[in-house]
Amino acid sequence: MNPPEAMKAIQIMKAAQINKYGGSEVVEINGNAPKPAVSSGQLLIEVHAAGVNPVDWKIREGYMQQMMLLKFPATLGGDFSGVITEVGAGVPGFKKGDEIYGFASSLRGGSGAFAEFVLAGAEFIAHKPGKISHVEAAALPLAGVSAWQALVDHIALSSGKKILIHGGAGGIGTMAIQIARHLAAYVAATAGAEDRQYVKELGADEVIDYKKEPFEDLLRDYDAVFDTVGGETYIKSFKVLKKGGIIVSMLEQPRPELMKQYGVNAIGQFTQVTGERLSKLAELIDKRVIKVHVDKTFPLEHAGEALTYLQKGHPRGKVVLKIK
Ligand SMILES: NC(=O)c1ccc[n+]([C@@H]2O[C@H](COP(=O)([O-])OP(=O)(O)OC[C@H]3O[C@@H](n4cnc5c(N)ncnc54)[C@H](OP(=O)(O)O)[C@@H]3O)[C@@H](O)[C@H]2O)c1
Repeated sequence: MNPPEAMKAIQIMKAAQINKYGGSEVVEINGNAPKPAVSSGQLLIEVHAAGVNPVDWKIREGYMQQMMLLKFPATLGGDFSGVITEVGAGVPGFKKGDEIYGFASSLRGGSGAFAEFVLAGAEFIAHKPGKISHVEAAALPLAGVSAWQALVDHIALSSGKKILIHGGAGGIGTMAIQIARHLAAYVAATAGAEDRQYVKELGADEVIDYKKEPFEDLLRDYDAVFDTVGGETYIKSFKVLKKGGIIVSMLEQPRPELMKQYGVNAIGQFTQVTGERLSKLAELIDKRVIKVHVDKTFPLEHAGEALTYLQKGHPRGKVVLKIK
């Protein structure tokens, strides 16, 4: 290989990108995507694995345009685990070769994790938990931090409190049940009948089949609800709370009329993946307090199928792209 060719080989990478909003058919694998260049406050990471989240197909379909308009071609993906190849100025505590994990979505100034290399802001990363693989670590950031932020920071869940967790078999629900058990709370969770055993094994005391059983008639006087489903489920959830209770939703904004009627607090969460929260999660993982559940992995070339599988395949836990 002559020098210009060698340079070229170093400067390009493979990435799963879109050039317009749409369904899985708009996802293209670009083998000539430019490798991103590091600025101050950023790091360049060789991506070993990238976690797949509902927000990735929501971005693809254009649902997040109110938050941010994409510049096409746009590389999809946020969650990643990998190895630092370059550290920008003003990033203390990290060096080339460190194994890190975090969030690098274009919604957060990153370059998109469904790629061989990703740029991430220093505030959205932490050292990877040492006792798990890159595939498992890549499954953690958005789902794990969402569960942590809701249960610990908003609800301040503690021993003996009763919490209802909706969507118990999903990416966030899987983490939330385990964190709630670790905090010694009493946990009820909603899930499909086929996921009952899985959710029990995560640590739920009670599992309610959301397709057949009306949770709002079965549960009373709960201290907290964590809603990862939204819609009717959110509205019905107010009924199970005791006065002074709290509901945190990943999808709905607080309804003042319902808060007043039931005498409860309501929060619409916007998850902030921070280095501090990622480090706390890593500690719980390394102490084996919580486990990662990866339902299925796909190669980068099948990123479109991975998004469809998450959207329609009813995975338990997480879907991950294995990139290196
Ligand atoms: N606000 C934010 O900052 C933020 C951050 C992260 C995520 N989110 C949102 O939070 C939601 C959950 O994320 P996720 O990663 O956990 O998604 P996920 O992995 O797709 O899990 C969703 C789970 O909900 C279950 N479900 C569907 N309908 C239900 C119902 N009526 N009752 C009970 N469970 C039901 C699904 O079960 P089945 O398999 O039976 O369908 C699935 O297990 C997504 O909409 C995501 O976009 C928001």
